Amino acid sequence: MNTLFNIQDKVIAVTGAAGVLAGGTAKYLQEQGAYVVYLDLFQEKVDAAVEEAKKISDKCCGFACNVLDQDVLDQVYAQVLESCGRIDVLVNGAGGNMPGATIGPDQDVFDLKIEDYTKVLDLNLKGTVMPTMTFAKAFKAQGSGCVVNFSSMSSKNAMTRVLGYSNAKAAIDNFTRWMATEMAIKYGDKIRVNALAPGFFIGNQNRALLLNEDGSYTARGQQVINKTPFRRFGQQEEVYGTIHYLISDAARFVTGVVVPVDGGFEAFSGV
Ligand SMILES: NC(=O)c1ccc[n+]([C@@H]2O[C@H](COP(=O)([O-])OP(=O)(O)OC[C@H]3O[C@@H](n4cnc5c(N)ncnc54)[C@H](O)[C@@H]3O)[C@@H](O)[C@H]2O)c1
Repeated sequence: MNTLFNIQDKVIAVTGAAGVLAGGTAKYLQEQGAYVVYLDLFQEKVDAAVEEAKKISDKCCGFACNVLDQDVLDQVYAQVLESCGRIDVLVNGAGGNMPGATIGPDQDVFDLKIEDYTKVLDLNLKGTVMPTMTFAKAFKAQGSGCVVNFSSMSSKNAMTRVLGYSNAKAAIDNFTRWMATEMAIKYGDKIRVNALAPGFFIGNQNRALLLNEDGSYTARGQQVINKTPFRRFGQQEEVYGTIHYLISDAARFVTGVVVPVDGGFEAFSGV
């Protein structure tokens, strides 16, 4: 039997697990036999996600967990360790943009709202760093563990309008490399930190930006498609395999990388 991709009984905590990409990934990982801890901001969303997850198996639980609240992170960390005895993987899926941190189509560059910009930096960057600094303590104690972060296509190439989000995702790439290096040098080669950089997937946050009500592309949606050699948006299940690979033994010599899952968007010059 091929055990390279076996994630049976791994304890995997997923933040943003009531959302589209991380939520779908959490369910997929549970279907593969992992024990999944569903974490998201509001109790009702967590309860709904766990109710769905129970249909897959009993190997799941959930907690309301604001990734920017250190007290809550500490409590959840302690509860997971108490009930599961270990934590093998952290998937940092909480993140996203907000309108005020984006330059609107009719706005000037200098209309940026610094307060909203800071909120987006916090959610995406600190919202990844804080859970990692909390949960990776278990990896140090166990001598093994794995983190998967969510970057974005906006981290490397300038993308119009989305300043705060882009700055935060660029910093996530840097944090991925930094944390991977530190954990390996200090605690050995069984602790790995990687990221994926999804291309464009229709979700709650970007639907109106990319699609008109009749399903046709907006002008921005068309620009994205023009720069995507696959000529389509991603489907949420198309991120699952990369995450599965990154947390499995198949990637046991892989750390500090950011894997594009983007239909060729990053590779293509657009010309
Ligand atoms: N959808 C895309 O095209 C795309 C592209 C690139 C990167 N990403 C990244 O992928 C990740 C998931 O995106 P998605 O499209 O599934 O978004 P989503 O909005 O569906 O999910 C994000 C989840 O994070 C939760 N969340 C927000 N603030 C939180 C907080 N403070 N604490 C805990 N949870 C919180 C939300 O409740 C939501 O359930 C994000 O980091 C996003 O930036 C998405």
